Amino acid sequence: MEFIDLPPLLGARGTVRLPGSKSISNRVLLLAALAEGETDIRDLLASDDVERMLEALRALGVDWQREEGADHYRVRGVGGPFPVKSGDLFLGNAGTAFRPLTAALALSAGSYRLSGVPRMHERPIGDLVDALRQIGADITCTGNEGYPPLQIEPATIRPGGVVRVRGDVSSQFLTALLMALPLTGEEVAIEVVGELISRPYIAITLELMARFGVRVEHRDWSRFVVPGGARYHSPGTVFVEGDASSASYFLAAGAIGGGPVRVEGVGRTSIQGDVRFAEALEQLGARITMGDNWIEASAPASGKLRAFDLDLNHIPDAAMTLAVAALFADGPCRLRNIASWRVKETDRIAAMAIELRKVGAEIKEGADYLCVTPPSWVRPAAIDTYDDHRMAMCFSLATLADCRMRINDPKCVNKTFPGYFAAFASVVRAVPVVAIDGPSASGKGTVGARVAEILGWQHLDSGSLYRLTALAAIRAGVALDDEPAVAALAAALAARFEGGCVFLGSEDVSDEIRSEACSSGASKVAVLPAVRAALFYRQRDYRCGPGLVAEGRDMGSTIFPDATIKVFLTASAEARAQRRYKQLIEKGSPANIESLMQDLRDRDARDAARAVAPLQQQPDAVLLDTTSMEIDAAVAFVLDLVRDRGLATG
Ligand code: DC
Repeated sequence: MEFIDLPPLLGARGTVRLPGSKSISNRVLLLAALAEGETDIRDLLASDDVERMLEALRALGVDWQREEGADHYRVRGVGGPFPVKSGDLFLGNAGTAFRPLTAALALSAGSYRLSGVPRMHERPIGDLVDALRQIGADITCTGNEGYPPLQIEPATIRPGGVVRVRGDVSSQFLTALLMALPLTGEEVAIEVVGELISRPYIAITLELMARFGVRVEHRDWSRFVVPGGARYHSPGTVFVEGDASSASYFLAAGAIGGGPVRVEGVGRTSIQGDVRFAEALEQLGARITMGDNWIEASAPASGKLRAFDLDLNHIPDAAMTLAVAALFADGPCRLRNIASWRVKETDRIAAMAIELRKVGAEIKEGADYLCVTPPSWVRPAAIDTYDDHRMAMCFSLATLADCRMRINDPKCVNKTFPGYFAAFASVVRAVPVVAIDGPSASGKGTVGARVAEILGWQHLDSGSLYRLTALAAIRAGVALDDEPAVAALAAALAARFEGGCVFLGSEDVSDEIRSEACSSGASKVAVLPAVRAALFYRQRDYRCGPGLVAEGRDMGSTIFPDATIKVFLTASAEARAQRRYKQLIEKGSPANIESLMQDLRDRDARDAARAVAPLQQQPDAVLLDTTSMEIDAAVAFVLDLVRDRGLATG
């Protein structure tokens, strides 16, 4: 399983240019295809769902071209029903392609098969099929009645009169009918049965149809009239707005992580309902400002988001972002009227409940609501994403709790936002890490501890974890090359660092782990991949605000490859042996300079030659050779690097 590990964050601030809106992109493509004339589409979203629509249109005889290297497309409209009269279309999990194409193809007098991924075949489409059958369409559900795949056959369409469609499962059924019915050329009234959900998406549909020359009147969002003789005409050029649902992650990041975070591509003049997510955030106390084409969010003056109880029927997609924002609220939160979540890319109410529980929240879920009680501290977790882009994007926000998260199958964001994780990284501030790697006795332990103390940051002496593992193995009588047994000990290690001392359970073993037996034992257990794996996340968990100084052999390469500063601290073997000799003599322990030097050389060779995480200077690490340098000078050198990066004051 692929995954992405996101670091704990301290805050968010910056500006993001949004990718194009999925809803607008796929609607505009279909309208441009059915219209007379050529349409220039600017800023079209580049994503899986849009790809599925583009492929389908090409297969149906619509000619389109992409301008080299840009998000600009030129679509030559066919001026009516599709000219290709048969086809087998695979539409992935793209609801915004599947529903409208079903309606348009049912009125195109051809034989077509429409299918998708297994989840698409679990998403209902019966209400749309029933509506189309009312006017004579010949559609068969080849699997289960009411669900894709579908087989469409030529039929005589009798549009006159009234078509009834349910509006309380998915507003996309109504959108599909509205966009396709002008193909009949006759006046048709559509009556919505049941409460119409997600109304703002219907508003997008009507607005875009109007731009292509077809005006639909409606009464109270329950009766719509498509005029007779209506034909789509290209408006020439169409600019696709930024995706307002995608904006929600960045606005929430600003509201949670200080801000301001600004999104560009949507704003006051946007036709997308999800811009109203900003109002919801405002109710949580966030400070929002807006221009025609941008929105900006900052944290509440109090710093903390207010608990909420909101009806979110009008912003079902962006509402998911609020479920994760609830982790940061000052009390239990309730998201109401979100039944449509259950028929989206996955059952989003169930998925949210499972994953929010993993990070420590208390959850109550019902048919159409979700209650989230935030935990006192958010725990790191491996988040499953259910092939749902929004699950992945939402949970990236949990890292703002100064907590790392693993997101499984992160590529699912390609559905609507292929560059999401890079865009997110560009506006957040990760907990800084100073990684100090180098050979034994190079002085990195002393330097690391002092730098951490002066900065007031966490300190990780990773060598101690290997030394403790060796000690635990020696005590348990486990052979140091018994990989599974040593790894099990490493995983369960009761290691504690307190006041400069190292504890195993309640016992202070600071001196014992420095013994020659533990030193050479550590370098032996450190070559075992299973031992390194067992200590991997344990080491990462030391990263928390305001920062971490981590020292060892592979801090800058394997454990914290994204470390803000990497130092390779070394000294000649002679100088290191001398230092070690002095320490031992001061402690009154017996010591021999020749054997110390030999021992260091042996350990260096083992650490550098091993297959996993060998000791090596990283290309992006600064070399610090302390052979003829006092500790204080080395400390000052590292502190200067930290200050140069603007990471600490004083
Ligand atoms: O830094 P130190 O001498 O306390 O390390 C003890 C042993 O542990 C050393 O032989 C190398 C190994 N080690 C490692 O392999 N990776 C680390 N990150 C830290 C130490």
